[in-house]
Amino acid sequence: MVTKTSYDVKDLSLASEGRKRIEWAKKDMPVLSMIGDRFEKEKPFKGIRISACLHVTTETANLMLTLKRGGAELSLCASNPLSTQDDVAASLVKDFGVKVFAIKGEDNKTYYSHIESVIENKPNITMDDGADVISTIHKKWDKIDFNILGGTEETTTGVIRLRAMVKDNALKYPVIAVNDSMTKHMFDNRYGTGQSTIDGLLRATNILLAGKKVVICGYGWCGRGLATRAKGMGADVIVTEVDEIKTLEAVMDGFRVMSMNEAASVGDIFITVTGDINVIDERHFKKMKDGAIVANSGHFNVEINIDALKRISSSRKRVKTFVEEFKIGNRKIYLLADGRLVNLSAAEGHPASVMDMSFANQSLACEYILKNRAKLENKVYVIDEKIDREIARLKLKSMGIKIDALTGEQKKYLASWREGT
Ligand SMILES: NC(=O)c1ccc[n+]([C@@H]2O[C@H](COP(=O)([O-])OP(=O)(O)OC[C@H]3O[C@@H](n4cnc5c(N)ncnc54)[C@H](O)[C@@H]3O)[C@@H](O)[C@H]2O)c1
Repeated sequence: MVTKTSYDVKDLSLASEGRKRIEWAKKDMPVLSMIGDRFEKEKPFKGIRISACLHVTTETANLMLTLKRGGAELSLCASNPLSTQDDVAASLVKDFGVKVFAIKGEDNKTYYSHIESVIENKPNITMDDGADVISTIHKKWDKIDFNILGGTEETTTGVIRLRAMVKDNALKYPVIAVNDSMTKHMFDNRYGTGQSTIDGLLRATNILLAGKKVVICGYGWCGRGLATRAKGMGADVIVTEVDEIKTLEAVMDGFRVMSMNEAASVGDIFITVTGDINVIDERHFKKMKDGAIVANSGHFNVEINIDALKRISSSRKRVKTFVEEFKIGNRKIYLLADGRLVNLSAAEGHPASVMDMSFANQSLACEYILKNRAKLENKVYVIDEKIDREIARLKLKSMGIKIDALTGEQKKYLASWREGT
C-alpha cells in the first residue's frame, strides 16, 4: 500500500493515461517480458529493496514492473529534472504501488530531495543513470546504516564517474556498468539516442531538417547514430571531435569534420553528445549565425555553456515550449530544453524496442549482483558476455530472425593455427 508520504508525483488523476502508455511500450519489450515471466516464478528479489534513479518513462515503468514481479520492493526517482513523464509516474504509484518521487520540471533542490527519498528506502541495490544516487550515498557514507549489496549504472557519463571513484579508492560497493554491455551501448546509445534526439529537436521546433547544416559535437556511440539519422533526413552533417580515431571514422563515413571554432559560423543547428563540459562556449556563440538552434543530448546540462550565453545576451525569452531565445546584438540564438537532454525533455526518449535490451541488462545485472555477491569486490564490472549474448539471442528470437550455427568443422578450423591456403 502506497501512502501519500511515500510518493511525490504531479497528479494521480493522470494515472489512466499513463497506464495505457505503459502497456503500449510493453508490446515492444518482449525480452523484458520473458525475463519477467521467469522472475515471477523464481522470485529472485524476495525481501530485496531496489532504489532506482532513472528517466521516469513508459519503458522504465516496465522495468519496475519486471523487478516487482521478481519480488523486489521498489522506489524510483528521476535521473533528470525534465525527463519525467508525469502520467507514467502517477500510474506507477496508483496502479502498481511503486514509490515514485519525480515531477517533470522540478527544480534542483526538489530533484536532490527526491534522490534522498529513494535513499531513505534503504536500498540493497541501487540503480543509477548518471551516478547521482551512488555519489549522494558516498558523500554521506558514515551515515549509511543499511546493507548495500551492489549497484547498476545505465549511461556512459555515470560509468566515467564510477571509474573515477575506483581510481580514488572511493567506491564502497560493486557496480555493474550496464552501459558497457554490447546489447546496451551498441543499440541504445546509437539507434535510441540517434532517433530520439531528432524526435526531440523536431517536436520542440518543427523545423525542416533537409538542407540544414547540422553540427554534431562528439562522434561516439550516440554521435554516430545521430549523424547517420540526420543525414538520412537530408541534413548536411558536420562533425566535431577531439579523438583522432573517431575523427577518421567520421571522415570515412562521409561526414565533414571541422574544429568547433570553424563549425560555429557554419551551422544552422548544433547538438552536443560528448559527456564533456563547455563544448559549445562563449567564443562559439559569438560566431553563430542569426537563428542558430543549440541543443544537447549528452547526460548532463554542462555541454553547452549556458551561463556564458546568458552573460553575453542582452535579453532572453521563452518563445515556445522548450525553446528559449537569446539576443546577442541583432542575432538570435535558440536554446532547446534548457540544455538538458533534448530527447527526453522535448520528446519521449528512446523507443521501447531498444530499451527492451537495455532494461533486460538492468534486470539481469540486479540478479547477477545477488547471485555473485560473495565474490564481487568494490569495483566496476561489465556484465558477463554470456548474459549479453543471451539477451541478443532472445531479441533475435522475438524478431523471428534465425542465424546459422558453426559446424564442427568450422569450429575446429577457427580454433586452429595449422591450416592455411
Ligand atoms: N540522450 C540520451 O538518452 C543518452 C543515451 C545514452 C548516452 N547518453 C549520454 O551521451 C553522452 C555520450 O555518450 P556516448 O555513449 O556516445 O559516449 P562516447 O564516449 O562513445 O562518445 C563521446 C564522444 O565525444 C567526444 N568528445 C569529448 N569531448 C569532446 C569535445 N570537446 N568536442 C567534441 N567531441 C568530444 C569523445 O572523443 C567521444 O568520441 C554521455 O553523456 C552519455 O551518458 C545520452
